[in-house]
Amino acid sequence: MSTSSDSKTIAVLNGPNLNLLGTRQPEIYGRQTLADIEAMCVKHSKSKGFDLRFQQTNIEGELVSMVQEARTCAAVLINAAGYTHTSVALLDALLTVDAPVIEVHLSSPHKREAIRHRSVIAPACTGVIAGFGALSYRLALDAAIALVDGSLGITEG
Ligand code: DQA
Repeated sequence: MSTSSDSKTIAVLNGPNLNLLGTRQPEIYGRQTLADIEAMCVKHSKSKGFDLRFQQTNIEGELVSMVQEARTCAAVLINAAGYTHTSVALLDALLTVDAPVIEVHLSSPHKREAIRHRSVIAPACTGVIAGFGALSYRLALDAAIALVDGSLGITEG
């Protein structure tokens, strides 16, 4: 997976079980693999003049460290997967990020079991994009870039 670090880099961080995309409940998450999504994100961000750091881990503490390492990036996209609903440590890490943070989900957690309705990390995120499969990542990249270049005109919300 690619890594780089500067103000023209967007970090895309992925939590547990997303390494299984393609075969994991494809009726919910789609048939694209995480490598497919990475390739799409790299291509899209490059076309907009940004580098991409794309990472995945199944381990909560590693995800916290990835967030800490992404603090120098222009923006952070995070699909925290199951940790979305449980991790105060991840919330605390994300609260230290000054750059825009976009919460991303392939599925729409609000349509699913009640346990998925609460996002513990949402207070640290500028916005949420969910329910569009792999397209959620591209939409989130566009949102992040619009926030970074100021074209959205939103500084708080
Ligand atoms: C997910 C939704 C979460 O509820 C779930 O635990 C995941 C994936 C999504 O992308 O739809 O692992 O974040």
